Amino acid sequence: MIMQSTSWVPLFPDQASTFAWQVDYLYFYLILVSVAFSIPIVVAIFFFFVKYREKEKFATPDEIHGSIMLETVWSIIPFVVSMTIFIGGAYIFYNQTRVPADSMEIYVVGKQWMWKFQHGTGQREINELHVPVGRKVKLTMTTEDVLHDVYIPAFRTKADVVPGRYTTLWFEATKPGKYHLYCAEYCGLNHSGMGGWVYVMEQSEFDNWLAGGGSNQTPVEAGRELFTNKLGCASCHAGGASQRGAKLEGLFGTDVKLTTGQTVKADEEYIRNSILNPSGQVVEGYQPIMPTFKGQVTEEQLMALVAYVKSLNPNAAATSPAMTTTPAVPTTSNSNSSSTSANTKTASNPNAPSNKTEPTKSSNK
Ligand code: CUA
Repeated sequence: MIMQSTSWVPLFPDQASTFAWQVDYLYFYLILVSVAFSIPIVVAIFFFFVKYREKEKFATPDEIHGSIMLETVWSIIPFVVSMTIFIGGAYIFYNQTRVPADSMEIYVVGKQWMWKFQHGTGQREINELHVPVGRKVKLTMTTEDVLHDVYIPAFRTKADVVPGRYTTLWFEATKPGKYHLYCAEYCGLNHSGMGGWVYVMEQSEFDNWLAGGGSNQTPVEAGRELFTNKLGCASCHAGGASQRGAKLEGLFGTDVKLTTGQTVKADEEYIRNSILNPSGQVVEGYQPIMPTFKGQVTEEQLMALVAYVKSLNPNAAATSPAMTTTPAVPTTSNSNSSSTSANTKTASNPNAPSNKTEPTKSSNK
């Protein structure tokens, strides 16, 4: 496919995301400012070098008493210039770090030396990522070993992937094509080989691709299985009024009061920490009796558990993707536990822009 040929400046990768042009404009502005300052300085050096060369030995120069005008001008101009750089940079940074609520979610696990992706519908990929064009995509990322960094030059975005925590990155691809994906953090012997491709496809093509992905468990389904069977979380966290563990239904995205008096937001990171280090954040009204699951769950299983707990808040599901014109994010259509949803999911494509997800959703209620 086309690479680096349609860019408006040669040597630059394609501009293939909504903020690519912003980053490029800022970058060119920086170059322009550097040139605008460097050229007059170099010219002045040569000019003064000739003009004030030594004409007589031991000459005494005239005294200089300064100029308010000149000093004001050389303070104000650089101030204005540096503020425009700051404002432009802050605007782009703000855009890139605030993930829109209606993003389609993809889980990413880095490891020496590959990228593992999983879609909300369950499809897994290694070193390849398929995404639809014109759709906001959120990557929730972590790593099994050392620091890595997801870098997609054509999208002008990158983010560190850090052991022991989640980082996020989002983009909206604007142009179908095949774009390089790199690891941009030195991570060992095969760091330079740790990369792959992002395939940006038209929505219909993407739907076909998803449909051909086989019948993988979605992260929510995998999480539910871990929760109820493999790890036995349900013995404390389900069962109504008598349950010993904190209530998880409707939890995600809310503020949680801890025994320490602190209030924390129940986000992905909080849920992850609660599984690995439960005594660190005991919810008010509960005993610190939960054992740690550190070492017992892999990063991928943790992400599945997070996705499952997330799906237990129907409000979060209602306020985000379902209300937008784009198709619902698959994980949210799985909000309610039902073993039948697995079958419905694999039969029809849950990501299709039709109302196909709706019957699934209502039948679960
Ligand atoms: Cu992973 Cu460099």
